[in-house]
Amino acid sequence: LSVENGSFQWSAPSNIALVKYWGKKDHQIPANPSISFTLNNCKTITKLTFEKKINDGKFSFDLLFEGQPKEDFKPKIQKFFERIFEYCPFLKDFHFTIDTQNTFPHSSGIASSASGMAALAINIMSLEKVLNPTISEDYFNQKASFLARLGSGSACRSIKGNIVVWGNHAEISGSSDLFGVEFPSSVHENFKNYQDTILLVDKGEKQVSSTVGHDLMFGHPFAEQRFSQAHHNLSAIKNVLENGDVEHFIKIVESEALTLHAMMMTSMPYFILMKPNTLEIINKIWKFRNNTQTSVCFTLDAGANVHVLYPESTKEKVLQFIKNELVGYCQNGQYICDEIGNGAVNC
Ligand code: PMV
Repeated sequence: LSVENGSFQWSAPSNIALVKYWGKKDHQIPANPSISFTLNNCKTITKLTFEKKINDGKFSFDLLFEGQPKEDFKPKIQKFFERIFEYCPFLKDFHFTIDTQNTFPHSSGIASSASGMAALAINIMSLEKVLNPTISEDYFNQKASFLARLGSGSACRSIKGNIVVWGNHAEISGSSDLFGVEFPSSVHENFKNYQDTILLVDKGEKQVSSTVGHDLMFGHPFAEQRFSQAHHNLSAIKNVLENGDVEHFIKIVESEALTLHAMMMTSMPYFILMKPNTLEIINKIWKFRNNTQTSVCFTLDAGANVHVLYPESTKEKVLQFIKNELVGYCQNGQYICDEIGNGAVNC
């Protein structure tokens, strides 16, 4: 690999928030801290090819999605580059080809911005490392997360596994508004290999982009209350992850999901992002949990799909329940089995 031209390839996973990030300040600073499980199977794989050029002040790149030129994704990537030039001035010396693909179906309603921005950011760090081989591994990972955050806030939680915190919190050592950090304490056995089965309820275009969603928290009547609740829930979930109290975990995670949607229902303008089948699924999960005492719960992103979370020890039982009772509520019967994973991989 010379400094003139070459390529890197990284995969980066998606993540699912337990305590949600919803609302931000300027420069992609979160209004409250959040915590997520890094996923394993839902990934973006991105190859970054670079070629040295004269720095003529013009920046250009080509974008391929699944091998085909993809013009409509370009503005978002262009904006990302513009935001990070000041931290990576070397970018202007190269022409790039970004060749990207996801392991999950396109337009499945699963946001690819977290995995996509994380994969691109860490590729850029590989180039920085070639130009400056003395940078440490910690610097590499931290700056990859820092750059990913500037692409899409939650992307900064997709560089590392298995549980990542983003946003300043008094009880999480090393936590920062600028990048994600691995959950610093040791995690109880109950949460090792935690499972996430994603039920694809509605594969349509998102009704509300997350940019618009975050903006709705400006002047929101319940914003301050919500931000302090997130701090409180992060303290609580920290203890839960350490002591293995799955029942308490369920209460925090489901309340966070419904609060996220409550914020959207009580903003101006207001939105309902759940579909009838989202509610059917939630009710079925509650019934199954009551009847069988199985530790299964749900969480939601800013859309209608349902993430079903459960310990590995209950996998067989829960998958059977999903197949028997929930698949009928999924669009074309589609769902994706995932679990906690380790973060981005050079591949
Ligand atoms: O990263 P963004 O700006 O797309 O925001 C994502 C916000 C949620 O997915 C709804 C919650 C979260 O913390 O991931």
